[in-house]
Amino acid sequence: MEVTAVASNPLAAGVDTLIVSLFERGNTPSGVTGTLDRKLGGVIGELMAAGDVSGRAEEVSVLYPRGAVAATRVLIVGLGPANTFGSEAVRRASAVAGRRARELGARKVASVAHGAGVSGLSLGEAAQATVEGTRLGLYRFGEDAGIESFTLMEEDPGKLDALRDGVRWGDAVAEGASLARDLVNRPANVATPEHLAEIAQGLARDHGFRVSIGDRAWAESEGMGAFLAVARAAGHEPRFITLEHDPSGGKEAPLVIVGKGITFDSGGLSIKGRQGLESMKQDMAGAAAVLGVMRVIGRLRSPRRVVALVPATENVIDAFGYRPSDVLTAADGTTIEVISTDAEGRLILADALVYAKRFKPRAVVDLATLTGAVDVALGNAAAGLFCNDDALADALASSATRTFERAWRLPLWPEYVRVLESDVADLKNSSGKPSGGACVAAGFLERFTSYPWAHLDIAGVRAVDSTEGYKVKGSTGFGVRLLADWVTRS
Ligand code: BES
Ligand code: MN
Ligand code: ZN
Repeated sequence: MEVTAVASNPLAAGVDTLIVSLFERGNTPSGVTGTLDRKLGGVIGELMAAGDVSGRAEEVSVLYPRGAVAATRVLIVGLGPANTFGSEAVRRASAVAGRRARELGARKVASVAHGAGVSGLSLGEAAQATVEGTRLGLYRFGEDAGIESFTLMEEDPGKLDALRDGVRWGDAVAEGASLARDLVNRPANVATPEHLAEIAQGLARDHGFRVSIGDRAWAESEGMGAFLAVARAAGHEPRFITLEHDPSGGKEAPLVIVGKGITFDSGGLSIKGRQGLESMKQDMAGAAAVLGVMRVIGRLRSPRRVVALVPATENVIDAFGYRPSDVLTAADGTTIEVISTDAEGRLILADALVYAKRFKPRAVVDLATLTGAVDVALGNAAAGLFCNDDALADALASSATRTFERAWRLPLWPEYVRVLESDVADLKNSSGKPSGGACVAAGFLERFTSYPWAHLDIAGVRAVDSTEGYKVKGSTGFGVRLLADWVTRS
């Protein structure tokens, strides 16, 4: 789907489908929708009076103007009440309108930037949200959007720059999130560590990033005993991916983003049950999001220096695999007693967090489907946010609010690490009890950090069971929009 911005009157657009919008409880249609109403002889006002069109959030009404405006059909999408309105309502409305247009066989679609100027939403923000919602809502795994062109229109040529900017950002961010969705939705025999490495190499070629791919021997030379233990039983060879965008030529201290890349989590010898095991192909959602963020940064030519680290391996079983009771040595010399081979994410992240230090980072943020416990605590509504630096936590929280990829701060108290005291090593990888699971896992990770650091536990938000708004059944691509916003504002 080609997405563009043009300065022209949407009502004159020679497209098959035009999308406009309406607020709830406004007594008359305004803006383009108002002009449309007059051209249609007041039919929208009549439908509103009759209650057939209400402006309720995500309501879609289809009208056939029969020559009164250039488009063959017009979709009016509801934005909900103006007083609770914001960019999230725009993304959701755009997604449902886009999908309805596709169902109706639309090929060439034009739209207004929904809600521009209302409740402090600038035209650029409205345009970005409209494009994001449309592209994300039309996402289908293994298929294109099904619509040829999507054109945002605004008659005033003086506003074209803002419109273009919003379209550019929205399109880049949605592309990054779609890359993450694709990677997570791919089966584990396709989305292998080597596959993730190839994707990273493709990003490097496309955007001029520095890339290096470490194999087992490389990880050994780095002393990554925790990462290698998880990888020991792996049939698909592990990869440690480093991808760097460095417009400053090494002058600027980088932002480092780390993604858990377990391409399949069987639990290892601490084997999981058979229920829902297929969803463990999604255990590389953190890695996928990190690669998605790099796509956005590359497309937008971000001025910030960003390093992405992805430790990638499957966690499976064979005779040579690691076992509960094994003692491992991480890259910084910390010894770890294995209690559960299913607490593997924190092991591979430990070595990645140690590795991050050599970049002298300004901040490090990791994304990981780390615990079932965070899903119990927060469900689908938010990621767990753990942070050792209040300024970093605040910055991430405001990006989370702005993008509606919500993150809720949880504590990093010493009590959570105390339960990891070991008789035979510096610490255990699990307390062996479910109590405070998400916080204990985060406390384990903190032991390997020595810089401003945040951890986002995305186990609960990585995917949805059914399509709703701009989230399409399967992977959400969570974290791409949040971190792209954070990098941009850092
Ligand atoms: N990948 C899982 C966490 C997970 C669970 C993600 C459900 C998505 C959905 C992680 O590796 C894991 O197995 N965590 C264990 C930790 C425990 C053994 C301390 C868990 O959450 O049960
Ligand atoms: Mn596990
Ligand atoms: Zn896992």
